[in-house]
Amino acid sequence: MKFSSISEAINKGKGKVAVRGWIYRERGSNKFKFLSLRDSTEIIQIILDRKNFEKQWKEIDSLQIEASVEIVGEIKKDSRAPTGYEIKANQIKIIGLSDKFPITKDLNEELLGDRRHLWIRSRKMTSIMKIRSTVMQSFRDYFREQGFYEFQTPIIIPGGAEEGPTMFELNYYEKKMYLAQTWQLYAEAAMYGLEKIYGIAPTFRAEKSRTSRHLSEFWMAEMEVAWIGLDELINYAEDMTKYIIKKVLKNNKKELEILGRDSKKLTPALKKKFPRITYDDALKLLKTKKKLKVPWGKDLRTIEEEKLMELYDTPIFVTHYPKEAMAFYKPKDKNNPKVSRCFDMLGPEGSGELIGGSERDIDVDELKKSLKSQGEKLEDYKYYFDINKYGAIPHAGFGLGPERLIRWICGLNSVREAIAFPRTMTRYSP
Ligand code: 4AD
Ligand code: MG
Repeated sequence: MKFSSISEAINKGKGKVAVRGWIYRERGSNKFKFLSLRDSTEIIQIILDRKNFEKQWKEIDSLQIEASVEIVGEIKKDSRAPTGYEIKANQIKIIGLSDKFPITKDLNEELLGDRRHLWIRSRKMTSIMKIRSTVMQSFRDYFREQGFYEFQTPIIIPGGAEEGPTMFELNYYEKKMYLAQTWQLYAEAAMYGLEKIYGIAPTFRAEKSRTSRHLSEFWMAEMEVAWIGLDELINYAEDMTKYIIKKVLKNNKKELEILGRDSKKLTPALKKKFPRITYDDALKLLKTKKKLKVPWGKDLRTIEEEKLMELYDTPIFVTHYPKEAMAFYKPKDKNNPKVSRCFDMLGPEGSGELIGGSERDIDVDELKKSLKSQGEKLEDYKYYFDINKYGAIPHAGFGLGPERLIRWICGLNSVREAIAFPRTMTRYSP
């Protein structure tokens, strides 16, 4: 008989079915064995009546959680069963026995981290990974629908990127090289050929922050566009975020439920326009509404972003940060040279900065000045200056941190839960 997935079997609802998967729960008596069987799609209750399995009973009786089995039987509705259906088994074939599964209810994050290769099978992790899959695919779909090309850049780079001190070094044939911190600078070179591009790639930052929003290896979903300025860039960011959330709400209702996520928390982001405020406005709001005084000139810290976001139920855009605190490629605003033409999109519920983006400085002298003041070596950026010598045009782009977005969408405690095998200062195995 042909196997169906558990969810296909449930959709069929009656008659003979063949399913296979792993034992999720088990309990038994002298006369019956009850199994919950899971596959990637669903869970279903299986009942085995001892009188039909006398020869196999010893084996069946000793089955442990995570053993893999094939079942043929009759499916029927049963309101007492956890997913509303039950299969009365006629045949069982044991495929892989299981040792005592080392994951129990009371494990803390550290111990679950050590057993991540097994924890990844849990309903929680598989639900998160399904939502992650939707987020990644929707990012691609959105930009593809807008006429963008997917573009890839090197991960091993000779130096020169976002912020020098946070680069991971690499021994490259006895030469010092680094792991990429962003796709952007190479993407800008390619923008001159392709005009509208996007990419998703692993990104590495040796940041010494042990927070719920920092990973040392994460993924960045970036885009770069020719001929646009800050407002149009922000339009893309808002439109894309809405697109992704809409897709998750459509495709992953069940997963959000499993995670206990109240999806109503996400709907304001679909219905409302995201507020756009300047850095100066943000400082004023913090002062008047949150009694928090931030000296002008500093980037917003986690605590300040969190306090500010208590005022909103959708993501917001904060624009025009102080030029001095920003990466070298963010250009100053002609009307107010103390600020730069950039934005951060902050997420609600403590999710922090989800997207960072800006117009790009095409004035080589300005670029050199900023780099020098940040203590960077100009020779690392030779190719980047060169790009701007041949028909430089206004352009802009942004980078989204999928782990942070997924954390918010799923309502997770930390970005560490939003990636299969997290890498942080203290967590690097399995
Ligand atoms: O704001 P960032 O540093 O921007 C850039 O790297 C630009 N070059 C992007 C661009 O314009 N193409 O990083 C972008 C996003 C952040 O908003 C955040 O969501 C995420 O990447 N991010 C991290 N996520 C997890 N762990 C970390 N350590 C992260 N650092 C940044
Ligand atoms: Mg940033």
